[in-house]
Amino acid sequence: MYVLALLTALLLALCGVGAADDAVGENRIKVFLFAEPAFFSEVQVDAVNNTCVSLLNNLIDGRVQSLLVGGHDVSTVLKRMDYWYCVFYDNYACAGTEDQNLVFPDGVNNLASANWQTKIHSLQCTTDR
Ligand SMILES: *[C@@H]1O[C@H](CO)[C@@H](O)[C@H](O)[C@H]1NC(C)=O
Repeated sequence: MYVLALLTALLLALCGVGAADDAVGENRIKVFLFAEPAFFSEVQVDAVNNTCVSLLNNLIDGRVQSLLVGGHDVSTVLKRMDYWYCVFYDNYACAGTEDQNLVFPDGVNNLASANWQTKIHSLQCTTDR
């Protein structure tokens, strides 16, 4: 019972974060990275247009299991109408081409499906307009 109450409080607290829809800005977008078990280890990074974000020294480095781009929950992300997209890399320098790395057009992914659960070390997001 106590654990359940604690979990509920935690979930409410997490939902409060970023509730004001500020996840997508003119020149930056928030990317939410989750490790297992999902809600206990969430890391939020701000990605500035066309700028590499290295996860070196970030506690989630190499532990990303799933991700959401531009919103804190799946439905928000799926409703996005902006032109941002992010590429996820298996190195710290955002090196390599898009076809060697991961791009998710809808901004939602459980990396288990791509076999990349432990490989993400950097990301770069770009908006065309
Ligand atoms: C983001 O960066 C790209 C590549 O440099 C550029 O083409 C685009 O215009 C930029 N977008 C904004 C909104 O500044």
